[in-house]
Amino acid sequence: MSVVEVKEKTNNYLLQIEGLKKHFPVSTTIFGKTKQTLKAVDGIDLYLKKGETLGIVGESGCGKSTTGNTILRLIEPTEGKIIFEGEDLVKLSKKKMQEIRKDIQMIFQDPFSSLNPRMKVFDIIAEPLRTHGVAKGKGLEDMVYELIETVGLDRSLAKRFPHEFSGGQRQRIGIARAIALKPKLIICDEPVSALDVSIQAQILNLLLDLQRKFDLTFIFIGHGIPAVKYISDRIAVMYMGEVVEMTTKEKLFSETKHPYTKGLISAVPIPDPKLRDKTERVIIENDIPDQLNLPEGCRFYSRCPFGTERCKVEKPKLNEISNEHYVACHYPLN
Ligand SMILES: Nc1ncnc2c1ncn2[C@@H]1O[C@H](COP(=O)(O)OP(=O)(O)OP(=O)(O)O)[C@@H](O)[C@H]1O
Ligand SMILES: [Mg+2]
Repeated sequence: MSVVEVKEKTNNYLLQIEGLKKHFPVSTTIFGKTKQTLKAVDGIDLYLKKGETLGIVGESGCGKSTTGNTILRLIEPTEGKIIFEGEDLVKLSKKKMQEIRKDIQMIFQDPFSSLNPRMKVFDIIAEPLRTHGVAKGKGLEDMVYELIETVGLDRSLAKRFPHEFSGGQRQRIGIARAIALKPKLIICDEPVSALDVSIQAQILNLLLDLQRKFDLTFIFIGHGIPAVKYISDRIAVMYMGEVVEMTTKEKLFSETKHPYTKGLISAVPIPDPKLRDKTERVIIENDIPDQLNLPEGCRFYSRCPFGTERCKVEKPKLNEISNEHYVACHYPLN
């Protein structure tokens, strides 16, 4: 039974993803003939409660951004359901999807490339309000200045261009733009990965403040554990296009069940050398399977210190092993 079916009876879910797949055709011959498929996202189930932050973490290339982009249908999914407030986004017409985009916004890693360099900050933030006909004239002006102040910038900066700002300030502008239409869901794709550590904390705190103030729900994508751990209520760990573990932040760290999760957590540098010696570490060998030729069994088998013959041939399903703790492993850790 899929995760989503288990949870369908309760209705405080903003988003339910069921069996989501994105397979990219890849041409491997010089004649451009499609020979193989890259399974970037390969049948994932996720759910998102109103007002919470779901972190998605995993190594580069595991399918995090593809997942985020398919939710907004910036990339068309190959298969699966994306149920947002009871409506399957996959089935919506382009026009209806355009309306839904008001409710789902994105914040990107590199605010510089996502902000139009030829537009002044005022217009960057005003643009979605104008496009959706929310306000004009003095009303629009007031809204934009209020947004600028809400994200911790001075209103005197409104007439400047993005290149005049630091990375952190630019991310604040991107955030102001994302919250302008009062969305219900914001997909944050590595919003702090390009920033200095000191600035990262400021941006994460801003996101948390805004979440409380505007009742926002977040998907927070990251490949580093610390930021995801700081901001998330629940975390989904992805490996090679699949969710391998998903649970509350507390359980993920105190009752880690998947060897891959354990490895990810262990990879975080532990500054205190006394602590470092006592911490159990799972060493993940760098034997990563070919994404164009995935193994039939567990995709983590080749790197797992605990893999058996069963893992090699039988693919583990994502199972709920205790309340809200899902793991895809034949031999979950104790
Ligand atoms: N348009 C595309 N065509 C073919 N392959 C793609 C395309 N977009 C992404 N991929 C591949 O899909 C896989 C997942 O990519 P994705 O960008 O979702 O990973 P990610 O988890 O966000 O990684 P990162 O942490 O580096 O941002 C990768 O192997 C990537 O090369
Ligand atoms: Mg990405």
